[in-house]
Amino acid sequence: MQEIQIGILGLGTVGSGVIQILTQNAEDITNRTNSHINIKKVLVRDIQTPRSVSGSFTLTDKPKDILEDPDIDIVVEVMGGIEPARTYILEALHQGKNVVTANKDLLALYGHELLDVAKEVGKDLYFEASVAGGIPIIAALKQSLAANRISTVVGVINGTTNYILTAMAEQGRDYDEVLGEAQKLGYAEADPSSDVDGLDAARKLAILSSIAFNSRVTINDVHVDGISRITADDIAYASELNSCIKLLAIAKHQQDGLEIRVHPAIIPKSHPLASVGGVYNAIYVIGDAIGETMFFGRGAGSLPTGSAVVSDIIQVTRNIESKSTATINCTCYNDLPLKKSDN
Ligand code: NDP
Ligand code: HSE
Repeated sequence: MQEIQIGILGLGTVGSGVIQILTQNAEDITNRTNSHINIKKVLVRDIQTPRSVSGSFTLTDKPKDILEDPDIDIVVEVMGGIEPARTYILEALHQGKNVVTANKDLLALYGHELLDVAKEVGKDLYFEASVAGGIPIIAALKQSLAANRISTVVGVINGTTNYILTAMAEQGRDYDEVLGEAQKLGYAEADPSSDVDGLDAARKLAILSSIAFNSRVTINDVHVDGISRITADDIAYASELNSCIKLLAIAKHQQDGLEIRVHPAIIPKSHPLASVGGVYNAIYVIGDAIGETMFFGRGAGSLPTGSAVVSDIIQVTRNIESKSTATINCTCYNDLPLKKSDN
């Protein structure tokens, strides 16, 4: 049986979920992969901080302990932020390691660069957890829907804002109080203004659009407006119209280019996305062959996000075992013009 050694960068909400899943489902994962996956080392900022998860791994505050360890096959980056995450991922790839990351901030700006480097060095770079927590939307767009010409991707892809808007609408709760709760539950970003200002959804939409339209879309191409100006009165007004307010991420491939935007929208309660409440996310996709299809699930949190990260670890493990060069890459990009959004 193959032994796969992993090093994890980060032991917060997501890192803890990854360790919990790899530990509690170890037997099933071993059976599915014919490999034993061992967590060798975990990087944190402060090794003195008491941790809620434990294991036989070594805790370190020195990145080179993982990046330069010749035994480590897969580096799992769940630290967040642009730097030093970008440098660590590049170093890991250059050291001949496969990489799994949940870092949408980084991918929405430098995803194409990182994928190019992964391709150059012949290593895998997987990032299922970067969009919509546990929902397997990246794999769906890359593989299951690859036969389609995708025209539309519309989603509720930020759990924190959906949690806030749902609690305000259904329980009449106060915006700041619910945001505090979303932070305690581990849904919000380290800087929650990323969530409420729409940037987190915009980053995810840039990643989804790049894959769906086989194009190079970055966060800078997305028109963004968040929910911080939405009041209880706005929500009551939408309800009077038998509608609700959702932070929508909308990407459309039209004849004259791509239209990519994130903003709050009033949608009728009969719309499929209106019933997506709390921390749940949903992504509605239209392809020329499949027609309409929708993906639904928990969009944030330790175990749902850990589920996506561990499924990537399993896929990379299978690739290593089969000696496949199955780096998932967009090898050829369309040069699609970006339309200016009018709102
Ligand atoms: P947390 O803030 O909970 O955890 C971050 C971890 O990374 C901590 O253990 C921290 O160490 C460590 N860390 C951060 N910076 C450094 C550094 N410079 N050197 C060493 N260690 C560092 O973040 P999350 O787990 O919530 O998020 C991780 C990533 O996953 C982010 O990219 C996020 O956007 C993404 N993500 C998060 C989701 C969620 O539901 N939370 C869902 C989907 C994606 P220490 O503990 O010592 O401070
Ligand atoms: N802060 C993000 C959200 C985490 O609320 O959706 C999941 O990406």
